[in-house]
Amino acid sequence: MCGITGIVSLNRGDIGRILVECGYKLTYRGYDSVGVAAVHNGVVDLRKDVGTMDEVDVRLGLSEMLGNRGITQLRWATYGAPTKVNAQPHFGCDETFYGAHNGNIHNYHEYKQELIETGHIIRSENDGELCVHAVDKYYEETQDMLEAVRLSTRDLKGAFAFAVGRSDAQEIYAVKMGSSLVAGIGNDETIVSSDLPSVLPVTSNVIYLQDGEMLKLTPHEVTVYRIEDGKVLDRPSQISDVDPNAAEKGGFPHFMLKEINEQPVVAQDVLGLLEGSKLEEWLRMIEEASNVYLVACGSSHNAGIVGTYYFNRLAGTPIIHAIGGQFEPMYGNTLEEDSLCILVSQSGETKDILNVLNLVRKNNLGKTLGVLNVVGSTLMFNSDSYIPMGCGYEVSVPATKTYFSQTIIFSYLAARLGMRNGKIDESEGKMFLNALRNDLPRLTQETIDHAGILAKNLARTMMDVDDLYCLGYGFTDGVAKEGALKIKEICYNHCEGMYSSEFKHGPLSIVTDQYPVIFVTTPEDSWMVINHINEVSCRGGRTIIVGEREDSLEPYVANEIDYLHVPKSDLLINPILDVIPLQLLSYFLSVDLGINPDQPRNLSKTLTVD
Ligand code: M6R
Repeated sequence: MCGITGIVSLNRGDIGRILVECGYKLTYRGYDSVGVAAVHNGVVDLRKDVGTMDEVDVRLGLSEMLGNRGITQLRWATYGAPTKVNAQPHFGCDETFYGAHNGNIHNYHEYKQELIETGHIIRSENDGELCVHAVDKYYEETQDMLEAVRLSTRDLKGAFAFAVGRSDAQEIYAVKMGSSLVAGIGNDETIVSSDLPSVLPVTSNVIYLQDGEMLKLTPHEVTVYRIEDGKVLDRPSQISDVDPNAAEKGGFPHFMLKEINEQPVVAQDVLGLLEGSKLEEWLRMIEEASNVYLVACGSSHNAGIVGTYYFNRLAGTPIIHAIGGQFEPMYGNTLEEDSLCILVSQSGETKDILNVLNLVRKNNLGKTLGVLNVVGSTLMFNSDSYIPMGCGYEVSVPATKTYFSQTIIFSYLAARLGMRNGKIDESEGKMFLNALRNDLPRLTQETIDHAGILAKNLARTMMDVDDLYCLGYGFTDGVAKEGALKIKEICYNHCEGMYSSEFKHGPLSIVTDQYPVIFVTTPEDSWMVINHINEVSCRGGRTIIVGEREDSLEPYVANEIDYLHVPKSDLLINPILDVIPLQLLSYFLSVDLGINPDQPRNLSKTLTVD
């Protein structure tokens, strides 16, 4: 996935400065390469290279570029290696057309060939270049920029968004065909971007676009058109209440640490959202469904695994959890008219999830309930109902506070369902809900404070570790998988997350002297986990434990720092807290290893591609 931003201004002469400022806010979407195309006196100045916005700005002086309109792009490589020539924006055949895209053009090879055969000079191996050439091609035929942009979408297959302009025209055009796009109307300038944070430095007056729509930006207005027939659409703007400074580090060295530290507030806020007027609708959707699937990717899926245990335990509701890309081949034929798909996605733009959304909608196979963080996302607009995670921006590539919020959401819904269907009695349900409401924010803070110190010390002893396991049992199954994902993602260590009783069925053979295995447990399950710990420790493995402090577990750690403990809490609150020491361990280890945890190599926060 990549990020694009285009700005058209009446009076600005320093377009490079504002494009860099806005584009910088999309860093989480890609940092393989960066480019800016700025139009000054009718000439397009195009500068691009491999690296992050900061690096390329220093190298090429992006923020000094002159002009009153332009486009910037931050790339996460898919088609074509992360090289200078494949960096975006691109020119068309000559230096008249400039543009950049986000997403994938699936008919890249065929269409590139077709363009070459008709005389187009294609310089890169990047599919974004074809968007600019497609517009160039139709402009030659129609001499009408709006029509050329509209017709270009007939040639381009895939899920994408692009922005394009001409050196001799004031306007910039953009298209939304499956990837996110937000526009904004400021004072004598307009902006279009892949995501809201990068619009906010210019304006809070925003327009959310739908797939199949295109727009024209002039300094004073944004006109939205339906691509199918070119009809002008009425899309009133709205004032966003998102704080423009939310995407700042706020004194923390990294966004990841800031976001971990925001979890006590998230615990409070998400409860407020859950107890609002839509609760009845969400519960009914689950209750009335013949079968309920919970579909998500990465961390969101790990939270879904934890959720499945809550739904079973508190509500007796069977939930089938599936990873996004696997859903259709594994469960597609089991969908029925009264099925429910709970689609969980921080970004609300993950392609693997949108594929499931489209499958359900196109075939009328039941309802969809989105659980999402990004307001204005495709998932929000297109699911039958949605639950907001209430986390504010999550900028760091590793998900932390959104995973945390998801586990709270699932546990809360499960308790409410269980109280209604009698699976748990009223008093048990109320006790848990009170613990969520009254104790969780404080316990989350205590965990961060305490486990933070332990995790920092433990990380220092793990600098040479490059292979380990993280095992969970029962409720901590998803927690362990999430811990392992964090360690892989930002420490570049191979760390497998797995069910602890499964470890003896093969992986145990990897254990040699001091081989590290992290066990995540709750007081309810530690009697069983001790069996699994023994199987490792008697073979010389190093046991690291995450969970509440229990006398029975103490003998299994060689020293204090190998026991990352969380405060005592309600039995069912504990699995929500257990992830925090693992988030902190991965964070400190990443920093100690000299890695920037906010921007792990090869990754992008939102994956809008298959
Ligand atoms: O936006 P989504 O929740 O749909 O993203 C899903 C995954 O790509 C995401 O959780 C990813 O696994 C995280 N970077 C992990 O920290």
